[in-house]
Amino acid sequence: MASRRASGLNNVEIFGPAMQQNPYPFYHELRESNPVYWEKSLGAWIVTRYADVAWVLHDSRFSANRIEAATEQIKTPRYRPLLDVMSHKMSEKDEPDHMRLRSLINKAFAHVALERCEPLIRNRASDLLDTFRTANGGEFMDQYSVPLPLLIILQLVGVPTQDTPKVKKWCDNFAFIALNYYTQLPEEKLETGLKSVQEFRDFLKQRIAELEAQPEDNLLSALIAAEHEGQKLSAEEMLANTFLLLTAGNETTTCLLGNGLAALLEYPDQMQHLRQNPELIPQAVEEFLRFDSPVQYLGRVAKEDLELHAQPIKKGDLVLPVIASANRDPEKFSDPDIMDIERTDNHHLAFGHGRHFCPGSHLARLEAVVSFETLFAKAHEIRLDSMRLTDLEYRENFALRCLKKLPLQIDFR
Ligand code: HEM
Repeated sequence: MASRRASGLNNVEIFGPAMQQNPYPFYHELRESNPVYWEKSLGAWIVTRYADVAWVLHDSRFSANRIEAATEQIKTPRYRPLLDVMSHKMSEKDEPDHMRLRSLINKAFAHVALERCEPLIRNRASDLLDTFRTANGGEFMDQYSVPLPLLIILQLVGVPTQDTPKVKKWCDNFAFIALNYYTQLPEEKLETGLKSVQEFRDFLKQRIAELEAQPEDNLLSALIAAEHEGQKLSAEEMLANTFLLLTAGNETTTCLLGNGLAALLEYPDQMQHLRQNPELIPQAVEEFLRFDSPVQYLGRVAKEDLELHAQPIKKGDLVLPVIASANRDPEKFSDPDIMDIERTDNHHLAFGHGRHFCPGSHLARLEAVVSFETLFAKAHEIRLDSMRLTDLEYRENFALRCLKKLPLQIDFR
């Protein structure tokens, strides 16, 4: 969310700098006193309790198609092409279109078996940490959390190595718009988003032509071949959903790696416990996802008039189910503000819920598990370099909670 807004919520500035650093006290207050909160300046209902968030995500009276809820700014003819691309993403579709796209993409995914990804992830993780070691200390986000998921998803999709930097730039620019298009955005963000879509379209056209002539073992080739009830993806659907795979499978996992490590630095006893019991890593990753969720909130539009906690949600209203708040709801989780890697029964909503549940969750989990295994195997001590945890800064993106920098001193074995 780009701009700050004063709210009527005990005079706190919702979506302001304090909330960017630590949104959890705000969520706590909303859950307790305003579980269905109308944020006037956003024109959206903010829903914060676990049961309500799960309901919004599950009930088909809420639509995932948010295109009409976009700002007037992005609906102008100049920026309309951005919205047109977004409207073809499966994440914006309701049934039956959503299932058609999702099953085509699932078919392509089935070609990229996770067992085959694991050695690739292990090698990349190991190489990146070796580079970090050679640099003798450094910044974990730029040197590890950003490149690992990016290199993996680009390789799985089938983007040639030499094109990685420009594709990453296009994806970042598009992802920012795709996550924030129903808020007022700085003009230059929209301009770069627009340019990125145009450049990516040209790139993809050429790449598809190459793969049609000579198929390779990657997601793009599998998408070109995939058919559902005799139908294939159209050119626009291919563009939008390749963008979706590249963006959804990249920054989110970056956030998870940074937030997970920051949580362990905040709880040194748990770091030690985890290092002594690495079989707990998969369970710890679930706890990182719950405790500091990469995706903070999603968006839906009411398809009819509804009521929630006596609040009238009207047909066409935008609703933001805050999954990061649901994951801290004491009605669902005991001591929710404590990070506990031994937590069982951890039914968090960090990958969503219902029909749009994240199809990349297995890949994201695998990348995180392999990352912590590799890091612990190579390092005997990890500490924050020359700053306190409270000094860590988060990116200016309320929808995605991601550290800007994580400077570390790692003592390697
Ligand atoms: C920690 C990493 C990740 C997190 C936290 C995450 C989170 C989410 C969430 C919350 C949704 C639901 C969106 C909604 O209901 O509106 C979602 C959907 C999606 N995710 Fe992920 N994701 C992650 C990694 C990945 C990866 C690695 C991929 C691909 C390789 C991926 C691809 C997708 C796609 C394509 C959708 C749309 C599904 C649909 O609309 O049916 N995600 N993700």
